[in-house]
Amino acid sequence: MTLCMKNLRKGRCNMNIVLIGFMGSGKTTVAAELSKELNMTAVDTDVMIVERECSTINEIFATHGEKYFRDLETTTIKELEMAAENTIISVGGGLPVKEENQRYLKNIGMVVYLRAKVDTLEKRLLGDSTRPLLSGGDLRASIEGLMEKRADIYENVATDIIDTDKMSIAQVVDAIKNLYNEKNS
Ligand code: S3P
Repeated sequence: MTLCMKNLRKGRCNMNIVLIGFMGSGKTTVAAELSKELNMTAVDTDVMIVERECSTINEIFATHGEKYFRDLETTTIKELEMAAENTIISVGGGLPVKEENQRYLKNIGMVVYLRAKVDTLEKRLLGDSTRPLLSGGDLRASIEGLMEKRADIYENVATDIIDTDKMSIAQVVDAIKNLYNEKNS
């Protein structure tokens, strides 16, 4: 209700849903399914960046470096904070790390953290070559290192946390739908 009031003050009478979590936590897949269930538009910050830059995430990191990508993330989430209505927004796993971005996330709507254990993430990310921060080196050590820095951040930014390890996509979608309906009733 508090979030709804915040949106009302801004002239919005609906609630956006933001999905945060580590790489491989299922944000993009869940967002796509949820958008069908709730009849809301789904957007993904990585997809928006890739479309604008006409480059893959790997190419952006390789050509311009991580800071350039992080600045694009901030521009993107800032725009969504201004404009998103009735939208499901999945964000890159590193986006909530920057303090400025945390402010935008909190303003946008409910922020659901799809939490998963390192074991689960490792299984899902094995063989993936699309994430520059996990390429080369020991996959498990990379996940553990980043998780150590990020776990508290994800928990603090989230309005709701779902432990997804033993859940199917459909179950995660149902859980978010219930939270959303509770907050909107
Ligand atoms: C990143 C996560 C990726 C993508 C980029 C950096 C991160 O998004 O933004 O590779 O720092 O965790 P996903 O979480 O959608 O994989």
